[in-house]
Amino acid sequence: MSESIIVEGKTREEKYASLLPQIRALVEGEEDFIANVANIMGAIKEAMNFLWVGCYFVKGNELVLGPFQGPVACTRICFGKGVCGTCWQREESIIVKNVDEFPGHIACSTESKSEITAPVFKDRKVFMVLDIDSRLLADFNEADKNFLQEIALLIESLAG
Ligand code: SME
Repeated sequence: MSESIIVEGKTREEKYASLLPQIRALVEGEEDFIANVANIMGAIKEAMNFLWVGCYFVKGNELVLGPFQGPVACTRICFGKGVCGTCWQREESIIVKNVDEFPGHIACSTESKSEITAPVFKDRKVFMVLDIDSRLLADFNEADKNFLQEIALLIESLAG
C-alpha cells in the first residue's frame, strides 16, 4: 500500500482517473469493510480537498453516520430528509449546485455550499449513501457523479 495519495492532472476527469486506481490498490488485500470505507473517504478528501467526504449507513428508517473526513456532522438523517435521505428515497445520485436552494437541506456545516450524494446498493436495496460537500457553489458536475458512482460500485463489491 502506498503511503500517500498523489493525484495528477488538471481537470476533475484527469484527477479522478489518477485517483481511482490508487483507491483500488488501497483496499486490495484488506478484508475489513469499515477499514476500507474509512480509507476510501480519507483518500478522496486528501486528493480533492473537499470540505467533507463521508458516508451514512441505512439503519431502520434512518441513516446513521459512518466513516468521514471533515467537520463533525449530524449523526442521524430520516428517510426522505435532506440531500442524503432524498438520495436514499429516490435511489439515485443527486447533485446540488446550491444547498440553500435544496428544500429541506440539512446544514451540518455553514461552510458547505454545494453537495453531491450517491447511493450504494446491496441486494438491490440502498444500504449506504455517499456524501461530499464543497466550500464552493456549483462545484459538482457529471465527472464527479461518474466518479462517485464508480466508488459506490467498488464499495458494493467490498460489502460482499
Ligand atoms: N447536507 C446533508 C447532511 C449531511 S452533511 O452534509 C455531512 C443533507 O442534507 O442530507
